[in-house]
Amino acid sequence: MDIVVEHVRKTFGSGDKSEVLALDDVSHRFGSQKITCLLGPSGCGKSTLIQIIGGIEDATSGRIRIEDPARSGGTTKLGAESVMMWQGLNLFPWRSVIDNVAFGPQMHGVGKAQRYARATELLASVGLRGFEQHMPAQLSGGMRQRVALARALIMERPIMLMDEPFGALDAQTKIVMQEELLRIFDRTKKTILFVTHAIEEAILLGDEVLVMTARPGRIKEIIKVDLPRPRGLDILGSPEFAALFDRAFHLIRDEVTRAMREQEEAVRA
Ligand SMILES: Nc1ncnc2c1ncn2[C@@H]1O[C@H](COP(=O)(O)OP(=O)(O)O)[C@@H](O)[C@H]1O
Ligand SMILES: [Mg+2]
Repeated sequence: MDIVVEHVRKTFGSGDKSEVLALDDVSHRFGSQKITCLLGPSGCGKSTLIQIIGGIEDATSGRIRIEDPARSGGTTKLGAESVMMWQGLNLFPWRSVIDNVAFGPQMHGVGKAQRYARATELLASVGLRGFEQHMPAQLSGGMRQRVALARALIMERPIMLMDEPFGALDAQTKIVMQEELLRIFDRTKKTILFVTHAIEEAILLGDEVLVMTARPGRIKEIIKVDLPRPRGLDILGSPEFAALFDRAFHLIRDEVTRAMREQEEAVRA
């Protein structure tokens, strides 16, 4: 599934001084079977864009279409083809691990034997075999994030919208989760939109990195990441990775510097 974003603008508040222009004229085609990373400084509208694509927020103007490149003309309702995953885990603390993972199918009326079988399979695939009956509070942060991943995967949607899902994890756990995601991507080839403010993460995961400007958010530059797949963390040491990192780093540094200067000027005015 492709996500086609055309001239999307988003303002919060209306008409008065509190009005915030969060996104200004964002257009992009997020291609099928690719990981596209949205990279930009805090407050540049990354979460706003991913929530509009997921059908949680409305755009103020512009259009978004979900297109199956294999079938011309067919478009679907926003949110229907995607599943969202973010940093706040929103697991149900009173449900066991397996009942958290099986929640979506349960809501869709799938019988217990069938949803448990699928949840068990997915838990094994994210390295949590044997933890089915544990409660979320008995797990580490990294394990809880794996439960959240399994719960997203069980929905079998072609699009995954991930908003800094690993942002709260410690550095070691983050590395393991990034590898897990790369493995899952190689196996399932979903369309993944991955929001991050970490340059290294964006390049490690992405086929394409959209560098955003500081507020209002626009796409400043698209960095194509031609590093081979399947990828592992060993690419972090390659000269190709270093060159891409350097390019993204300079773009981001310019943006942050500009935003800070503008804030200073606004305070002085
Ligand atoms: N519900 C809201 N009401 C008012 N302003 C908001 C709301 N959500 C986000 N904003 C503002 O829009 C801008 C972009 O926010 P956000 O998309 O969360 O940025 P990011 O995810 O890149 O850090 C910020 O200035 C933020 O304060
Ligand atoms: Mg955000």
